[in-house]
Amino acid sequence: MSALKILVIPGSLRTGSHNVRLAAVAAYEFAQAGADVTRISLGDFPLPIYDGDLQAKSGVPKNAVNLKRMIGAHHGVLLVTPEYNSSVPPLLKNTIDWITRVQDAHETRGQVFRQRPFAIAAASQGRLGGTRALSALRLILSACHATVIPNQLALSFADQAYDEMERLRNPTDIEALKALVRQLIDVSQHMM
Ligand SMILES: Cc1cc2nc3c(=O)[nH]c(=O)nc-3n(C[C@H](O)[C@H](O)[C@H](O)COP(=O)(O)O)c2cc1C
Repeated sequence: MSALKILVIPGSLRTGSHNVRLAAVAAYEFAQAGADVTRISLGDFPLPIYDGDLQAKSGVPKNAVNLKRMIGAHHGVLLVTPEYNSSVPPLLKNTIDWITRVQDAHETRGQVFRQRPFAIAAASQGRLGGTRALSALRLILSACHATVIPNQLALSFADQAYDEMERLRNPTDIEALKALVRQLIDVSQHMM
């Protein structure tokens, strides 16, 4: 059987982003667990703010179609989100909104969300580690009929969370990430 394919998507474009760093650590853990990992930047898939008039006039942008197909080519997906004003940043929400508008031939809308599991993680410099963004993201994905695995990671004090080798320092964070990785792999295998 070919290797399980996991897609990791950080929801920040910022240089030095704590969420991009966490996505890199998570990608490493997935690879250690035997998965074939793809980590992307949403900077490579720029999208306009969703506008129904734009969709009616020009259709769904190619980058949204490509992202949807990239998700469809993986067995499981990890989204790593910053927290903006207690919720998901516009970059990630807008990306999800556009993807929900993609419908390839012989597919029902939203099939790409229903057919594979999603995991969610967040990193923030604050004490709560982006917990509220995780709640918001779980709600959004659930509304898309995605299976969102129960295990998640909210990385608090993210500016101090990594050692000089870019590994997580805190054993509790390390164990939470490993549990997330194990569960996403298990559920992905079951849904294949
Ligand atoms: C508009 C805005 C709102 C923010 N709101 C929150 C918040 O509600 N909770 C929080 O923990 N951090 C908040 N932050 C701080 C972000 O967590 C911090 O900028 C973080 O580094 C962003 O993620 P990144 O490092 O992956 O880019 C906010 C930052 C911005 C720019």
